[in-house]
Amino acid sequence: MSAPERPGEAAGPAVPPDAGHGGPPGAPVLNLDRISLSFGGLRALSELDLHVDGQEIVSLIGPNGAGKTTVFNVITGVYQPSSGDVRFAGQPIAGKLQHSIARMGIARTFQSLRLFLNMSVIENVMAATYGATKATPLESILRLPRARREEREVRALAEDVLSFFGQRLAGYRWDEPAYSLSYANRRRLEIARALAARPRLLLLDEPAAGMNPAETHEITELIGRLRDERDVAILVIEHDMHVVAGCSDRVVALDHGVKIAEGGFDQVASHPAVVEAYMGHDPEALAEAE
Ligand SMILES: Nc1ncnc2c1ncn2[C@@H]1O[C@H](COP(=O)(O)OP(=O)(O)OP(=O)(O)O)[C@@H](O)[C@H]1O
Ligand SMILES: [Mg+2]
Repeated sequence: MSAPERPGEAAGPAVPPDAGHGGPPGAPVLNLDRISLSFGGLRALSELDLHVDGQEIVSLIGPNGAGKTTVFNVITGVYQPSSGDVRFAGQPIAGKLQHSIARMGIARTFQSLRLFLNMSVIENVMAATYGATKATPLESILRLPRARREEREVRALAEDVLSFFGQRLAGYRWDEPAYSLSYANRRRLEIARALAARPRLLLLDEPAAGMNPAETHEITELIGRLRDERDVAILVIEHDMHVVAGCSDRVVALDHGVKIAEGGFDQVASHPAVVEAYMGHDPEALAEAE
């Protein structure tokens, strides 16, 4: 079951700011220190330590209900942890509002997609950048010079982001409504929206869900290219073990909100606690990747 996520919450609202790319690779970007969170009597996260370094790809795995999406919701300010500390680029972020956290340079995609289906493909991406534009609503309505210049800049940024997806989101599709896209392309567009915020940390919630094997292979490569070419650190939640095996520098396994294993894919996938956690839920998930 996934956490309730609020409508209208964009993958990342702003062309940000000074989130500052170019920190030294390997320096910690995200650090969760003993995070706990309960929903009523349910302890969804328990004393969780988790870190992601610059330009690192970390996968978060675990059976349904393990607390993976809840981790994203804590990082992005949807939920406040009951205890523990979250730092992004060394700055504490617990207690900050969602849009402030997004502006610091964290963008996410959602397990259940958040596209504006009646808007065009490119408008979906442009909308994910608008928080940082400076033109007033009146300047925009009257199409005064600053508003027009900003619109050109935002469009150029959206085109740059979409071109990253090559033929899959090729130019002829940009003015088509998002509802005309295949499911896999909608997932790509969701990632494009997150990228439009020019994040330093990208959180991907099940990017390969519903994709066929060829598309899954492609998304695995894409995650690697995002890190290499877009200079982002990535925390990815994924059930497909081919993706996890193919893209991760490090894997963290959760069960019932507790970290049960951490390390390289082979090490984590064969860890007895991980095998046991999946046995009760989805025993084939681990076996399939071997
Ligand atoms: N807002 C909420 N209120 C009550 N319980 C919640 C809430 N959000 C999440 N939970 C519970 O917290 C636990 C962790 O949920 P979460 O969505 O983080 O799991 P997940 O690992 O992402 O699972 P899945 O693989 O199914 O997406 C589950 O038991 C879920 O029912
Ligand atoms: Mg989830």
